[in-house]
Amino acid sequence: MKKEIHDAIYNHYTELFQNHGKKPASLGWPKGRQDIRFKVMSEIANIKNSKILDIGCGFGDFLTYLNVKKRNIEYTGIDINPIFIKIAKSIHSSGSFQKRDIEITKFSKKFDWSFAIGTTNMKGNYDYVENLMTEMLKISKKGIAMDFMSSYVDFKRKGSSHFSPEKIFKIAKKLSKRVSIRHDYLPFEFCVYVYKDSVLTKNQTFKDFK
Ligand SMILES: C[S@@+](CC[C@H](N)C(=O)[O-])C[C@H]1O[C@@H](n2cnc3c(N)ncnc32)[C@H](O)[C@@H]1O
Repeated sequence: MKKEIHDAIYNHYTELFQNHGKKPASLGWPKGRQDIRFKVMSEIANIKNSKILDIGCGFGDFLTYLNVKKRNIEYTGIDINPIFIKIAKSIHSSGSFQKRDIEITKFSKKFDWSFAIGTTNMKGNYDYVENLMTEMLKISKKGIAMDFMSSYVDFKRKGSSHFSPEKIFKIAKKLSKRVSIRHDYLPFEFCVYVYKDSVLTKNQTFKDFK
């Protein structure tokens, strides 16, 4: 990531944190609603007994939502912001938290599923999304989920990035045959699921739907 973009993202969230402390507002989610987002992201598949990566994990609130111990999930969260990582480490007894930038990180192991929740909210660039999706698919064995602020809004917050669901669908379809867009859970946000396994049966259906 270019230094000025990295610094802009770091400064933005750090300033929010100075104003709000350990609250969703510090993650740029002023009205909360995190659990709805987390529910939808986790509905990508049955993610019990899997290894997951949470890119741009903030305080690791997704880990809390997932109830990782009960579901036997091995959770890794990364974020460029060391303040968030320090807090995440102090409040969670499970999971691994690391200060890392997804763009320059080389992982030595693969995950089953990777998630990027709110990670593109300040980066309105389709090339960035395509690179991020490509990288996420490389390090994931089963699939990825990402969410976005939608271009279907009547108001855009200054500095926020809004994406066209149609364009995101096209990018995802270049990378996998099996893609799902959901724009049904919050009016101004949507997400994409991209699956690695797109094996077709003789019937020309995806294996999971045979
Ligand atoms: C909107 S917040 C969402 C936090 C968390 N996913 C949640 O929903 O509670 C976005 C987070 O992504 C992090 N982030 C942005 N770009 C990143 C990158 N390239 N690598 C790692 N983290 C990144 C930011 O520091 C910030 O904490």
